[in-house]
Amino acid sequence: MTHTNPHDHIDAMLHETRVIAPPEAFRARARVTREEYDRRYRQSLDEPDVFWSEVASELHWMSPWSQVLDWQEPHARWFVGGQTNMAYNALDRHVAAGLGDKRAIVWEAEDGETRTLTYAGLLREVKQAANVLLKLGVQAGDRVTLYLPLIPEAAIAMLACARIGAVHSVVFGGFSVSALADRINDAQSKVLITADAGYRRGQAVGLKKNADEAARQTPSLEHMLVVRRAGCEVEWQPQRDVWWHEALEQAGGEHAAAPLDSEHPLFILYTSGSTGKPKGVQHTTGGYMVGTYLTTGEVFDLRDEDVFWCTADVGWVTGHSYSVYGPLLNGATIVMYEGAPNQPDWGRFWQIIEKHRVSILYTAPTAIRAFMQHGDEIPGRYDLSSLRLLGSVGEPINPEAWMWYWRVIGGERCPVVDTWWQTETGAIMLTTLPGAHPSKPGSAGLPMYGVEPALMTRDGQELGPDEGGLLVIKRPWPSMLRTIYGDDERYRKSYWGEIPGVYFAGDGARRDVDGYVTIVGRVDDVLNVSGHRLGTMEIESALVSHPSVAEAAVVGKPDPVKGESVVAFVLVQDGFEVDPAELRAHVSREIGALARPDAIIISSALPKTRSGKIMRRFLRQIAAGKAIEGDTSTLEDPGVLERLAATPPV
Ligand code: WT7
Repeated sequence: MTHTNPHDHIDAMLHETRVIAPPEAFRARARVTREEYDRRYRQSLDEPDVFWSEVASELHWMSPWSQVLDWQEPHARWFVGGQTNMAYNALDRHVAAGLGDKRAIVWEAEDGETRTLTYAGLLREVKQAANVLLKLGVQAGDRVTLYLPLIPEAAIAMLACARIGAVHSVVFGGFSVSALADRINDAQSKVLITADAGYRRGQAVGLKKNADEAARQTPSLEHMLVVRRAGCEVEWQPQRDVWWHEALEQAGGEHAAAPLDSEHPLFILYTSGSTGKPKGVQHTTGGYMVGTYLTTGEVFDLRDEDVFWCTADVGWVTGHSYSVYGPLLNGATIVMYEGAPNQPDWGRFWQIIEKHRVSILYTAPTAIRAFMQHGDEIPGRYDLSSLRLLGSVGEPINPEAWMWYWRVIGGERCPVVDTWWQTETGAIMLTTLPGAHPSKPGSAGLPMYGVEPALMTRDGQELGPDEGGLLVIKRPWPSMLRTIYGDDERYRKSYWGEIPGVYFAGDGARRDVDGYVTIVGRVDDVLNVSGHRLGTMEIESALVSHPSVAEAAVVGKPDPVKGESVVAFVLVQDGFEVDPAELRAHVSREIGALARPDAIIISSALPKTRSGKIMRRFLRQIAAGKAIEGDTSTLEDPGVLERLAATPPV
């Protein structure tokens, strides 16, 4: 059993000095050498037009671009005037090149059921699904919401939207009815694609039931396309609901991918920011395609024979870029697993790797730490010799977990890439390239091509080596978000308005003399719980929407497995009593189970300044069980802190 002390994580990362060179056997045949990286990185900054034209030309364009980048800060247009299609590049291109029989998706259910789709088979279903959407009246530019389990139909639906130019908005299947309804309403989606149910830990989770409830609050919705996954009973509205399998059977199998403008929106994906309302991050066709294509190929050193497994659900950006689009653009074989990592036990990932001969594994530190807690013996029972590269994503990885991943899972044979990026960046921004760069456990590493990072102070002063500051990006890159759907002002303010002239990532970081960037964590009111972004204000609004809560303040607390856990300070409404179990259930209903507070501290007052601002800094210290540090003299009633610290969580 390994125990990690969460309070030491950040300290450990900043004092880590180990350097691990790429294993020789890997380095000898790597796609990118150190010299090659240096040359191409330089070119990507000095001659971006030449660099990006070369990369984009490896993909298929129905008409060529006339300009690589048109940058009118904060609005970028990439491959201006070019026309292309994501689904064509991910599927038709490979089938045309004779790879029709190659496995595209190898899907595994929690109960061990498997399904394999070849590139030709996947293309066939995507064409049929595209025809179904057209028949339902979906046109280019219309929004389609997806609320699905991690089954091949999720990828098929995304690609079908991309094929006709419909804009998909995937909502994670673990989100609640109200979260789903809010996202459908914000996007004004016409069609919802869902399933009767999904499976999680052997239990059927009624997605259609949630969808039906959401549909009562979403006037824009005209149709629901329902995948039969579980075969359970569902309510049916014949004029609105359509079975996916019946519609596909009846649909024509011919469909020519629509030529779409490079800047045509590809998808919207909602993510948490520092206000209560999630942001609909909007990505476009050409730039996102080029970014995910390039990074998947080079960061993962992808080869024809690789079996690539990114464990992320399609409800998150990692699932968009690296469970679906990036690997398919590269013609790879993807593994997709619908279940939990501990079903039937903590050996499940290793069993899947052994069974499908997975060669590249891309997962989150929270999962690695959970496996690590269960010991070396479990992975030791499986044949992991097919693995040749490991990736980490979603949150800082503590050096101890990094070393465990490298030693126990990779057998000191597989390089580990720690990739930093965001929903907004679309693709990997900071990483090491596995055959080119030594790793420094806990540090993400160097910029990908075209990425020009810097560390700055709040007022835009650039910092030198080893100085901690705010991570910014100094120029636009192809897979960058283009706007926040329906709220360009928020886009302008959140990303290009915080520090004038640069993209503000919202992360604190440090860069060493070798240029390696170590991410410390968010500097805004965004939590990272098990690699998932949660806004403290979203959870606070969910809490205060319960009649028993008068006021709430939410902060994160370091957690040895989840990275951070949710701690809620709540003020009880006069005449009510707070029932902690009921309050947790309420947050699950409002947002989803992942936002449920781990600890609730019932308080009679919150630490506020005289102007009424809640001082979360102090709440974070209390939540972490630390001594109060900092100037408390601005508080209206400094005694509040002591009382809160003495209150046991419920
Ligand atoms: C935030 C973005 C990247 C896709 C999944 C999460 C944190 C992400 C790393 C990493 C340290 C990381 C940052 C970032 N983060 N990757 N390798 N090391 N922190 O996407 O939900 O948009 O969250 O995740 O804080 O800002 P997201």
